[in-house]
Amino acid sequence: MPPRLRIDRHGIIVENTHYKLGYQFLRGDLKSMTIHHVSNYAEMCRKAANMISAQILLNPTCTLGLATGSTPIGIYERLADAYNKSDLDFSGITTFNLDEYCGLSENDPQGYYYYMNEQLFNKVNIDRAKAHVPNGTAGDIALECRRYEALITAAGGIDLQLLGIGNNGHIGFNEPSSAFEKDTHCVELDEETIIANARFFDNPDDVPRRAITMGIGTIMQAKKILLVANGEKKKEILQKALYGPITPMVPASILQLHPDLTVIWSDT
Ligand code: F6R
Repeated sequence: MPPRLRIDRHGIIVENTHYKLGYQFLRGDLKSMTIHHVSNYAEMCRKAANMISAQILLNPTCTLGLATGSTPIGIYERLADAYNKSDLDFSGITTFNLDEYCGLSENDPQGYYYYMNEQLFNKVNIDRAKAHVPNGTAGDIALECRRYEALITAAGGIDLQLLGIGNNGHIGFNEPSSAFEKDTHCVELDEETIIANARFFDNPDDVPRRAITMGIGTIMQAKKILLVANGEKKKEILQKALYGPITPMVPASILQLHPDLTVIWSDT
């Protein structure tokens, strides 16, 4: 039997009656998600940036989980604007990025550390010592995964996690698989992800085949999750993730069990 859904004027309350998968974060009977359906990308970014700004204003020393890819670019632009207008102070926050390609250094324009510098870190007063991205060039990747997970734990976990969704339903680089992987780990990227991300590389053969990603458990332990998606090509997978069966074959479907999930979906 699928989880029961009750819809109210604020969005959708999902009552989880069946998916007790053993992790502490899956306990409890009432899970809620709020869905904002907006008409365009600018509106999606405005709403998402407002939510992140509110988090920073309410708790100037909060910990944010950050995503890369094309979807959040406009969100980071708005956050940088808010900083320039002196509305936001990033100096006290800590950030953890979801993922990084194996083999790409901090200075590689295709790497996610470089992306974060370009899109946000260079534009605001963030303390670099507290802005974390997994080290894709670590000699011992398994050790790096453990180090990253321990850093997140030591920071007290993530207060607000920003997520995009892959065409195959991945979150971070948690690819469709037979099981949900709990902690930060190294993953072999799906062919579909490699093809989707080839647009960021001069030569599709340059897309790394492996990446470090926060695990599903790491993501689910965030106190709040903000999932953003836009465009017709994401519509079907978003529907599967939010309304379909909860399965590791659609990694984002686990978000149905998160107690505080906001989704901002835009048609364009
Ligand atoms: C990137 C990440 C990925 C992306 C997803 C969507 O840090 O975690 O899960 O969010 O691949 O990417 P875009 O936004 O490029 O469609």
